[in-house]
Amino acid sequence: MKKDTVCIHSARCTRPEHGAITTPIYQSATFVHHGVEDESEYSYSRLQNPSRRAVETRMAELEGGVDAIAFSSGMAAEAVMMNLFESSGHIISGDDLYGGSIRLFRHISMPSGIRFDFTDTSRVENIKPLLRPDTKAVYIETPSNPLMHVTDIRAAADIAHAAGALLIVDNTFMTPYFQRPLDLGADIVVYSGTKYLGGHNDTLAGFLVLKDKELAEKLRFYAKTIGACLAPFDCFLIERGLKTLAVRLEKQEANTRKIANWLRQSPRAQKVYYVGFEDHPGFAVTSRQCSGCGAMISVEFDSVETAENVLRNVKIFQYAESLGGVESLITYPMRQTHADIPEPERLARGINDRFLRISVGIENADDLIEDLKQAIGG
Ligand SMILES: Cc1ncc(COP(=O)(O)O)c(C=O)c1O
Repeated sequence: MKKDTVCIHSARCTRPEHGAITTPIYQSATFVHHGVEDESEYSYSRLQNPSRRAVETRMAELEGGVDAIAFSSGMAAEAVMMNLFESSGHIISGDDLYGGSIRLFRHISMPSGIRFDFTDTSRVENIKPLLRPDTKAVYIETPSNPLMHVTDIRAAADIAHAAGALLIVDNTFMTPYFQRPLDLGADIVVYSGTKYLGGHNDTLAGFLVLKDKELAEKLRFYAKTIGACLAPFDCFLIERGLKTLAVRLEKQEANTRKIANWLRQSPRAQKVYYVGFEDHPGFAVTSRQCSGCGAMISVEFDSVETAENVLRNVKIFQYAESLGGVESLITYPMRQTHADIPEPERLARGINDRFLRISVGIENADDLIEDLKQAIGG
């Protein structure tokens, strides 16, 4: 089955009871044992719940994994995953990441004894010299948040595997609809399901998707022990979101292409970061490893005044910290997602007071362009 069909009819999902078309919300913390020996799949919802099982099954199938584990947020998924490396080992990480991931690595993983090297993994040749005998994983976001660096997943996987390390990919920006890292050699795929997977800015969620059964079992053990699981109603919302993933992303991508091209000719936009531009340094890799260019744009405007005018004056876009939903949002990374990154480091990477990140929704593209035009003032 093609991906747009799997979004709606996951072959691996069992049919809900009574002919229900949608998976019911199993709002139950616990499940009855039908006999002393009964060890049915469902006993207590921290371990598993039918609503969660349904959304996990659909995600595993979409991503081509043996298993997917649903968490209460993307950060919960990442925090649980980091238990694989507790107090030993070394990780090579991309240096342009969602600020919350950097906060987790610097303020929780590092004090617990994990050592990190950060580098621009879009130059895969940067990874090899950092490998050490205790390197346990290479961690990347591609495209990265917010600078849209593109890393060649297959090349990064080959380098990591040759050193006996795992390749972990945060695939939040592309989703399995546009990019399937496990097919390209990755071992773990991480998601903020809050974004495109849910798609409606109405719930938090996270996923880990695995290629290897043993690794999946280990992570399931950590997940059930720590308990940051996705609640039944949120499972329902994410499963519903997944059903429209394909149509939303097609529309969002088409809108984004138009808006990026318009922004590029605006004299107020000094630099437009969009992986769909043919002269983007990652365009060739994107064309090879993705079936679409996503719906994220970052822009460096000519002045702080223009950036603030945009945030103040937009009427359809909204100034809010998230991405991937049907509503178009604009984020000020300096004040929001990347506020915890030390200023000199942030500025050195170009995340300054003129830099905004745009998540394009499913509104009419011409309306969105008109909105930006009036907000910018020409
Ligand atoms: C790329 C990326 N990864 C992970 C996360 C964390 O996800 P959550 O906010 O669902 O905890 C985010 C959140 O913005 C993100 O953008």
